[in-house]
Amino acid sequence: MFRLKKDICFQRGWLRRFLIIKLIVVCFLFSYAFKKPNTSKSLFKVFRDCVHPRLLPLKDKYTEFYFSFTNIVRECDILQEYQSLDVRTTPNRDEVKYVVLPRKNETLTMVTLGIGQDIKAEIKLNELYPNIEFYGSDPSSIVNKDLYENKLGGKFYKYAISGERGMKNSRVFQETRRYKEEITEHVGAEYFLKYFVKRSRIDIFWIDVEGNEFSFLDQVHNGGTIDKEGIKICQMNVEIHNALLETGEKEKEKFHDFIFKVLEDEKYIFMKPNFIDVEKYRFIRLFLVNVGDEECVKLYVKE
Ligand SMILES: *[C@@H]1O[C@H](CO)[C@@H](O)[C@H](O)[C@H]1NC(C)=O
Repeated sequence: MFRLKKDICFQRGWLRRFLIIKLIVVCFLFSYAFKKPNTSKSLFKVFRDCVHPRLLPLKDKYTEFYFSFTNIVRECDILQEYQSLDVRTTPNRDEVKYVVLPRKNETLTMVTLGIGQDIKAEIKLNELYPNIEFYGSDPSSIVNKDLYENKLGGKFYKYAISGERGMKNSRVFQETRRYKEEITEHVGAEYFLKYFVKRSRIDIFWIDVEGNEFSFLDQVHNGGTIDKEGIKICQMNVEIHNALLETGEKEKEKFHDFIFKVLEDEKYIFMKPNFIDVEKYRFIRLFLVNVGDEECVKLYVKE
């Protein structure tokens, strides 16, 4: 009899302890789930919910996709949720760049690949936010080096940016404001970032490299070389050309694939698309913001 009572007591104590442990586990799971309301996740979700169903009917129709892309994506630029980003414009000589200003005073790293003898937008950006270190590269140092180093206070490198290292053809902007094909030294974007810029977080990244951008764009996806190097890019203005170095068809396909891959990555949202079609030059300008990386989100997305 006595023994039985002791057993029941033991069982009760054990049950109580079991319930307490269960409670702790549940509390832990709750606190984990609600620890940080992940604004970035929801930001990506509203972006995707808007953009993806509109683009999906054009999947694998490269030409149609290419020509409809800007009008479709522009429809989503008005999303309420984008107000958690402080987006500003900085005009260049013949275009506008977009930038999300940070939420706190930190030294930012900015990279310009392809300077094209024009740093008006960088100067404007530096007026908006003075605490920036600038790194720029262009296959031609004429005018560019002076502008980037003396006028902007940045660091200039004379490289063309593309897939691999080596001497290759590139289109070089001349003093006469025309382009010329020239053999210049190329480095990959990930090489440039890793060995010259040497920062794991690139805050602001502008690329206009006259058709070589695809070898860069391939690397920003999850598992791409830039991603694997542990280099994060928080925001990008990209110029995506058509029919400059390759036949336009292949580039339309690459553009299509890039966009669908970005939607799969769940890292970047894109907005402010612009389609430019002048004479034989045709390209799409696009602004991408990293809402998948915690460090970028903390600095640029309002809670
Ligand atoms: C921001 O920080 C830099 C140093 O990192 C400092 O020089 C500057 O004055 C700060 N700006 C403001 C507005 O606090």
